[in-house]
Amino acid sequence: MTAPDSDLAIDPEALRRRAELALRTARDRTHALTTCVDEPDLTAQHSPLMSPLVWDLAHIGNQEEQWLLRAVGGRDALRPEIDSIYDAFEHPRAERPSLPLLAPAEARGYAHEVRGRVLDILERIELRGAPLVDAGFAFGMIAQHEQQHDETMLITHQLRRGPAALTAPPPPDTADGAALPEEVLIPGGPFTMGTSTEPWALDNERPAHHRLVPAFHIDTTPVTNGAYERFIADGGYGERRWWTAEGWAYLQEHGLAAPLFWRREGGQWLRRRFGVTEPVPPNEPVVHVSWYEADAYARWAGRRLPTEEEWEKAARHDPDSGRSRRYPWGDTDPAPDQANLGQRHLRPAPAGSYPKGASPLGVRQLIGDVWEWTSSDFLPYPGFRAFPYREYSEVFFGPAHKVLRGGSFAVDEVVCRGTFRNWDLPVRRQIFSGFRTARDAS
Ligand code: AVJ
Ligand code: FE
Repeated sequence: MTAPDSDLAIDPEALRRRAELALRTARDRTHALTTCVDEPDLTAQHSPLMSPLVWDLAHIGNQEEQWLLRAVGGRDALRPEIDSIYDAFEHPRAERPSLPLLAPAEARGYAHEVRGRVLDILERIELRGAPLVDAGFAFGMIAQHEQQHDETMLITHQLRRGPAALTAPPPPDTADGAALPEEVLIPGGPFTMGTSTEPWALDNERPAHHRLVPAFHIDTTPVTNGAYERFIADGGYGERRWWTAEGWAYLQEHGLAAPLFWRREGGQWLRRRFGVTEPVPPNEPVVHVSWYEADAYARWAGRRLPTEEEWEKAARHDPDSGRSRRYPWGDTDPAPDQANLGQRHLRPAPAGSYPKGASPLGVRQLIGDVWEWTSSDFLPYPGFRAFPYREYSEVFFGPAHKVLRGGSFAVDEVVCRGTFRNWDLPVRRQIFSGFRTARDAS
């Protein structure tokens, strides 16, 4: 999307092409993620935390059928009998393998059949009027939904044992070699959080509202593996005082001693990534840490996690104009030299990369690379209204879930922006989660 109030709002053809491209891009990714392994790998459950890949595949088609064929297009259900199998609330992930799932070829055929009809509807429908269709919202929502499951499926690939099924070139070396300051001061004052104008923003990003944020310092880049190794080497996992009570209890119960997928061998840390084991690169942002680990590291470092509003202010606030940008670099869609997104590279870029993606005050890699844990619970903004369904956001609001911001290398740009909010349980670390730290300015 271009700037708010751009031509997309007034040029219906551009909007139609944008929606079609977003749907096509998502399907290309889904295809890659579900054709790189064989049938048994598609139907197996690689971790109790995840669905079989073939469940995600048909769930993607089923959500698209429900929203774009039935709700938007007014069509009859293609396969009403499978709705319940692919309802995420009826069946937790652990029990999905025992459901009568569509076989891989059937699931692929079903999603393809739905898509063909959806493209017919998209060609004919007026993308104006009711909130569900206005500015193509439902089409954008479904493209975002598929891309979210594409990230979920990539996590399943990471958890899967066996040789690599997916490969991608490493991120380009875009670091400008500048000696970066460790942290950036974000001056105190009001800023606009959230959005009321971004056409495809989801319900929890709305509405735009003012927040008064006192001055704070935030790390210029995400915390690196090298820095995290120093926390481990300093006995961080063995010292009660760095951890919350829940974090400490979780640590003891599960015997955690390092990020997920790390192992110690011959005096060095190794990590398994998409089927390949390699030495942990010290200059890369740490990934696969839980909120508890991020929070403990920050305390050990004499710092803290940023709040969600601090994170968004660092990412969006332009101190010259006083307005909030769509992205750290401005209002234009992400370019490949601004952010590591879209599974183009299957790893985060070294800390300090992407100078062209820096915020006005010089904070780097806020978008892409790794999801960043914040200290905040996932809560509604003042004036929140669930749309179009309560089960996207509303049922998750509360202290159980912590907010993550900024997207990872595994998310597509359609589902990543300065206002985008992700959330998960503080124990989760199979996700592409890292963090940066902050401190009060006074
Ligand atoms: C927003 C990433 C937490 O994957 O559980 C997918 C997105 N919602 N299908 C998730 C979602 C419904 C959701 N997260
Ligand atoms: Fe879903």
